[in-house]
Amino acid sequence: MAESRDGAQAQSTENVVMYHPSKDLVENANVTAYMRSKGLSSYDELYKWSTANPEEFWADQANELEWFQTWDKVLDESNAPFFQWFVGGKTNIIHNAIDRHVKTWRRNKLAMIWEGEDGSSRTYSYHTLNREVSKMANVLKSMGVQKGDIVTIYLPRIPELPIAMLACAKVGAAHSVVYGGFSVEALADRMSDAQSKILITADGGYMRNKVIELKKIADEAMARTPTIQNCIVVKRTGHDIAMESGRDLWFHDLMSLPIASPICPTEEMDAEDMLFILYTSGTTGRPKGVVHTHGGYQVGTHTTLKFVFDLKEEDRWWCAADPGWITGHSYIVYSPLLVGATSFMYEGAPNYPYPDRWWSLVARHAISVLYTAPTAIRGLMRFGDAWPNRHDLSSLRLLGSVGEPINPEAWRWFRDTIGAGECPIMDTWWQTETGHFMITPTPVVPLKPGSATRPFLGIDVDIVHEDGTSCAPDEDGTLVIKRPWPGMLRTILNDPDRYKNQYWEKIPGMYNAGDSARRDKDGYIWVIGRLDDVIKVSGYRLGTAEVESALVSHSAVAEAAAIGLPHDIKGNAIHAFVILRAGFEGSPKLEEELRAHVGHELGPIARPDEIKFVGSLPKTRSGKIMRRVLKAQALGQDVGDVSTLES
Ligand code: WTA
Repeated sequence: MAESRDGAQAQSTENVVMYHPSKDLVENANVTAYMRSKGLSSYDELYKWSTANPEEFWADQANELEWFQTWDKVLDESNAPFFQWFVGGKTNIIHNAIDRHVKTWRRNKLAMIWEGEDGSSRTYSYHTLNREVSKMANVLKSMGVQKGDIVTIYLPRIPELPIAMLACAKVGAAHSVVYGGFSVEALADRMSDAQSKILITADGGYMRNKVIELKKIADEAMARTPTIQNCIVVKRTGHDIAMESGRDLWFHDLMSLPIASPICPTEEMDAEDMLFILYTSGTTGRPKGVVHTHGGYQVGTHTTLKFVFDLKEEDRWWCAADPGWITGHSYIVYSPLLVGATSFMYEGAPNYPYPDRWWSLVARHAISVLYTAPTAIRGLMRFGDAWPNRHDLSSLRLLGSVGEPINPEAWRWFRDTIGAGECPIMDTWWQTETGHFMITPTPVVPLKPGSATRPFLGIDVDIVHEDGTSCAPDEDGTLVIKRPWPGMLRTILNDPDRYKNQYWEKIPGMYNAGDSARRDKDGYIWVIGRLDDVIKVSGYRLGTAEVESALVSHSAVAEAAAIGLPHDIKGNAIHAFVILRAGFEGSPKLEEELRAHVGHELGPIARPDEIKFVGSLPKTRSGKIMRRVLKAQALGQDVGDVSTLES
């Protein structure tokens, strides 16, 4: 038995030190209060009860929120796998995230704090946020935006991004946020698939004091998207940009018109009405528009933040993701507001101007819970302990990680150096598709560094063989979810068959997460990584197919294959193999040109670390590239069974 620094007990199981939570934390946890309200005396019992009675559990949670009209049925499974939650319920997530707070003392409480990379800051009380969101909602309405429309948002990490999202939801339109690090082709594809008529963007954004020219990228993308009628432009950098008259309008001009009244009723929605779509990479082809809805999503995100990070209204919560990804949607924008807490957002790079920028933010804004990704932790860890040690980080009480498996070394550094050996780390496994945390500890669960621990309450997870039978302890298999959950994706926009085939039919009747994992003898789950052609680069989800199609859109490239190889900081780095067209010859200059081309088409995050020019690619007889073989070769491993390889 080992002792951790705070006196909490740490014990070794199977060579893994287990970290037990302090008595104080357990005693005061939201989840403990709920457990007692059910007359139960342990978290294990609560978990068992919640999965035996999932509808009662989720109905309890839904009752924590306000509904215009309560639901008739918690879960409708009659058209599986097109499950429906809180059927017949009338709601709007904005009512719970904003409207119900401004009716109380909370109107004067900070909803959002933002700090720019240049040190400027803006704060919004619930009252001010409500005014800004209402004004923007009225602007959208005046431009003809209606219930059911999809508005594309392509903004840097500035307050107008959450405000635009919330304004769409308020009027009943769905938002489709495209991450500001994506580029022309990625943006054009997403706008076309969503048939967006309106794009909201900015003149630019800042990253490491450099201007990212978002409007220029948007102009190129709009030229490829005939549906766009208007573009609203937020002024962030103030540098010169082209404005097309009749199409492009300044946000600040619109917000100063009489039409932008600060009073706007919140649209009443069916629980199952679309709240947003978010595109994510899959196995093949184009990104999928994952559809989320008002009712189930608000219940799932609210419940998970309240129980997993023990969030209370007095907390200052910092989820350091970008709002353009699901982590930001669920845990920067919606759930902290649902809880009535204060959500902090920072615009720029973690190490700008110095490697202690994050730690100075924690100290200056008294952040109590910090949620980030392993890649950021590893990146900051490499600068050494002196940077965090010069700041008072004692406001922190809980820490969290998401996006990829966290290596135990980074886990321990995060807990010991940032969390003073006292802050437990909530390693949360989930996906764009799941909407909210699925496998995660709560503050009462003993932790093993590197394991996301157990399924969340009401969530039925298994690790199975290809035929759907359960794996034995410590055996690798496919991670599946056996019962529907409220925040689950409802479908893929314009492609319900793909939703059905990809997630529910590969292993019939179970949601296939596309990850491999194993469960140890204590029941702890260890997520290993993706089983498909998705690469997690710095926690960002990219598809090999997207990188390849960006490469072959260059005139010199005949064929391309992309794979992910392990990288110390980024987790994975993209490596590409390229066959050139006749008449072109590989050179360092061409390699650089191709990298820049991928950056221009797809975005800087997708630029391959290395491009190799090759004469052929390993393929199956049916012509599919065998990326598995390329990966094994690059890692110097046995290439395995290549009997289907083209000879
Ligand atoms: C991976 C991000 C291990 C996993 C919220 C999943 C993780 C994919 C973890 C989804 C974690 C996410 N431990 N792996 N705690 N969290 N992943 O859609 O491979 O961007 O399938 O959602 O990230 O990525 P997405």
